[in-house]
Amino acid sequence: MRGKDVRLEDVVMRFGDFTAVQKTSLKINAGEFFSVLGPSGCGKTTILRMVSGFIEPTEGSVFIGEDNMRGLGPARRPTALIFQNLALFPLMSNWENVAFGLEARGIDKKTRRNRAFELLALVGLQGHEEKTPAELSGGQKQRVAIARALAVEPAVLLLDEPLSALDLKLRQYMRAELKEIQRKTGVTFIFITHDQGEALTMSDRIAVMKAGVVEQVDTVDNIYANPKTPFVATFVGENNVLQGKVTQADKEYAVVETPQGPLRGLNQDGLSAGETAMLFVRPERTVLVNGVIPDNSFEAHFERRDLEGAYVNLFFKTDAGPFIVHEANRGRHGDLGGAAKVGFNAGDAIVMRPGEVDNE
Ligand SMILES: Nc1ncnc2c1ncn2[C@@H]1O[C@H](COP(=O)(O)OP(=O)(O)OP(=O)(O)O)[C@@H](O)[C@H]1O
Ligand SMILES: [Mg+2]
Repeated sequence: MRGKDVRLEDVVMRFGDFTAVQKTSLKINAGEFFSVLGPSGCGKTTILRMVSGFIEPTEGSVFIGEDNMRGLGPARRPTALIFQNLALFPLMSNWENVAFGLEARGIDKKTRRNRAFELLALVGLQGHEEKTPAELSGGQKQRVAIARALAVEPAVLLLDEPLSALDLKLRQYMRAELKEIQRKTGVTFIFITHDQGEALTMSDRIAVMKAGVVEQVDTVDNIYANPKTPFVATFVGENNVLQGKVTQADKEYAVVETPQGPLRGLNQDGLSAGETAMLFVRPERTVLVNGVIPDNSFEAHFERRDLEGAYVNLFFKTDAGPFIVHEANRGRHGDLGGAAKVGFNAGDAIVMRPGEVDNE
């Protein structure tokens, strides 16, 4: 099997006068594990359906490898699709489920059976070939569905929230499994999810979508460390948000006058004095000040803590809104009084042009 790249060129999808996907161009590399991440209704499935050929974009083109896909239906594209509900055939054995698509291609039974056995071994189900789907666990059924999708040797496997029906433990286990199957086969995976943890643990790169717009396409590390918009900064991971007006700015840093006083952070959007801004700092980049004083520090009102075992989240109220400090649990967080000093370094904070944040 071999993956192919997928290119969307100026693709737009409208349903009547509603635009589900605004003009989008992006390239997914051959053999990449690529995720499309975003809240419900943002257009993720619509992107997948345009790639698989169930719908044609209103404008623009989809290429797979060198080939323009316009006019080609799903059966004529080098793609396979896995849905959330797997639709395995209950009366067929697992190997017959896997081999199902091969019969239509005129492949003889012995070859079909061998191929199905190979694929079931690939997804870790040797010994389960003659059982039926009802005799398998949820995660095992999921793997039969993956083997079945791979049977037709797609260059691109499209996965639409395939783990969402599984319980939490199984879902986490299947993350590693899926990633391993992708690595072994070299097939391009386009994985759709609204779960940022899923996207971060499995993907090479992620596209973050909001309301029909791809806001950022980047490596997982960059999506987390260098979010480009307020939405990406708050949808992926936790972030403290402090708003105000820029009072001083140079190429590297900007000072934002917040209700909690002036705070300095990286001037990512090149803002100038007088402009309004949002400053973002991740909870794990903040500290409870004792001893070394970071670039930015201020008094905050301690409200409560959530103990996570090795870590603790400390929740504060400030004049600029809620503020979370995430620290290693060193056993000194039980006796916080009403007030405490918190802070962070300027290099750990990002100043951006204001925009919509995710506040779920
Ligand atoms: N065939 C259609 N006709 C009209 N509107 C549609 C159609 N398909 C999708 N939409 C609309 O387009 C928007 C995007 O839908 P889509 O299914 O791509 O969202 P999604 O990101 O996959 O959401 P979810 O996470 O809930 O699955 C939604 O507002 C949806 O109602
Ligand atoms: Mg969807």
